[in-house]
Parts: sequence; C-alpha cells; structure tokens
Amino acid sequence: MGRCVVTAVESQSQAQSRQADHQANHAAGQTPGQSPLVLSLFPGADLLGRGFQRNGFVVVRGPDTLLDDPIEDWNCRAVGKFQGVIAGPPCQEYSDANRHKNPAEGDRLMLECLRCIWECQPEWFLIENVRNVPDVALDGYHVQRLDVTDCECGGFQKRLRHIQFGSKLGQIIRPVRTNGVRPVTRKVVVGQPRSPHDRPSRRAAAQGFPLRLRKLTKRARSQVIGNAVPMAIAESLARAVTARSEVTEQDCVCLCGRVTTARSRHALPSCRKRMERRRRRVTRTLTYSAPPAESRLPGHDQAKSWPLRSHGVVR
Ligand SMILES: C[S@@+](CC[C@H](N)C(=O)[O-])C[C@H]1O[C@@H](n2cnc3c(N)ncnc32)[C@H](O)[C@@H]1O
Ligand SMILES: [Zn+2]
Repeated sequence: MGRCVVTAVESQSQAQSRQADHQANHAAGQTPGQSPLVLSLFPGADLLGRGFQRNGFVVVRGPDTLLDDPIEDWNCRAVGKFQGVIAGPPCQEYSDANRHKNPAEGDRLMLECLRCIWECQPEWFLIENVRNVPDVALDGYHVQRLDVTDCECGGFQKRLRHIQFGSKLGQIIRPVRTNGVRPVTRKVVVGQPRSPHDRPSRRAAAQGFPLRLRKLTKRARSQVIGNAVPMAIAESLARAVTARSEVTEQDCVCLCGRVTTARSRHALPSCRKRMERRRRRVTRTLTYSAPPAESRLPGHDQAKSWPLRSHGVVR
C-alpha cells in the first residue's frame, strides 16, 4: 500500500516535471524530447557549430561566401524555428594584426548578422569575435559581453575571443574556466612542421581541429583553420549555453560569467577596470533597428527590464 502511494506521488511529480519540460521546450519553439535547433551564421568549417553539435545541439549551417552563399542574400524569416543563433562574423576588419583594417566593412557584416538574428527571433544568440569588435544591441535582447581564452577552456592556445551572448529572457552564460592553467605554446604542443605541407594539419591540431579538409587546397585549408574558433572554446560555450540562467547576486557585475566573493561585486581587478571603461563609454555600440513595418514580426517581444538593473549595472 505504502509503495503504491510512493509510486503515485512519484508519477505525479514526474508528470509535473514532464509538463514543465514541455512548456520550456514549447517556449523555445521545440517539440519535447528533441535537441535544440541552432542556426550557424558565417560557419566556415564551423568549429563553433561542431562544438555545439558535440554537446547536444542540432546545427543548421547558414550562409558563407566559401560556398558562394553571401549573408546579404539570406532571408532568415523562420520565426520560432531556432532556439539559438551562433555566429562567427569575419574578424579581419577589427583585428589588431591587420594594418589595413576597414571597420566600416566589419560593421556592415555585423549588421547583416544582427538582421538575420532579428528575422528569426531565437531565444538567444551568441556572436564570437576579436577584442576590437563593437558591442551589439538588438531590440528585445539583453546582451552580455565576456572574453574567454582557449587555455582557460582546456585548450592549448592563448587565443582570446570576445563573446556577446544575447538573451530574450535576460539569461547569461558562465563558461567554466580552469584557473591557473598556463597556456602552452603551439611549438610545444605540435612541434615543428616536418615539411611545408605539414603546417595546416599541425595548426589544426593546435586548434583541437577534428578535420583533415583534404579536398581543400593548402591555402584554403590554412585560411579555414586560421578562421576557426578553437574547439575547446566552442565546446565550453555550448555547455555554458545549455546551463544559461538568470543573473544572481553572486554574478560579477561586469557579467564576465565569474562568481564573486561575499565582499566584492567584482570577480577580478580587471572586472573593475572593465566596468570603469563601460561607464566612460569607451566602447562603440552597433545597433540593428528593424525597418518600422517589420518591427512587429510574430514572436518578437519587447525587452523586459534587465534583471541587472537591480544589481547595479545599466548597459
Ligand atoms: C571567422 S570565419 C568563421 C569561422 C567559424 N565560426 C568557425 O568556427 O570555424 C568567418 C567566415 O565568414 C565568411 N564570410 C565572409 N564574408 C561573408 C559574407 N558576406 N557572407 C557570408 N559569409 C561570409 C568567410 O568565408 C569565413 O568562413
Ligand atoms: Zn567580471
């Protein structure tokens, strides 16, 4: 008799949790039991997307000029179909290494990226780029900006990437960082190339690259590999997106995804400096505004008040 009661109670709570799952999935435009669907913009060889794929997402590869499919030609009106959009817009125009950079061209492609995100109205989006990329703003989304390095995520390189995570629900991501791990130089990890033909595959190994890309020319292979996000970062971001949640009092106010101690609102001294720069508005912001006739797409919702306002941050 006792066992029957327990079973009945369990099945009731199981039914409730199934219902909660169903509602959560429904809100994200998914059918229960299905993996979240993600659109990958500017995929290239799509290490970013592969990181998500390895962590339970189904990734649809979108426009890339590698396949003569420019983003400018893309219509992304698939409202409610994708839970998320991930994007790695070209970073050359913002890169410190490029002496002939043209930020206006970089901005144009970023705005194309924001247009596609806006058109499909995902619950969240994630854009990865370099340090000099401007902040993005998109109607209806709260945007968290944070940086991660490959070695912090379990990789071998010092490579630093800037991530902008937008969420309709005001959620943030907290990539797990392995503190105290020192970057290992590529030379140590992959050794010297044995021949000129050896180079791309060795660079690929340093990126945690699982592909050989034999059908590409050596030059194309080098380019695609150089453009790619290190696999450790991609996987870490995917796990962090799965675990995304609302901001709490323990989160560092700069929204780097680190937690703070009871006495400080900043996780690191660099977080305090970052907040200072934001207050002085040193950074540029790129805002995508939809044409007025289109600003009422189904599924488009105005931003609710950003939970951080009560936490002292107004962006
Ligand atoms: C930084 S790479 C993306 C790397 C990718 N996220 C990865 O992890 O492997 C940028 C990509 O944008 C593509 N691209 C450049 N201009 C484009 C355009 N106008 N439309 C679509 N793709 C473009 C390039 O071919 C390149 O593959
Ligand atoms: Zn911080």
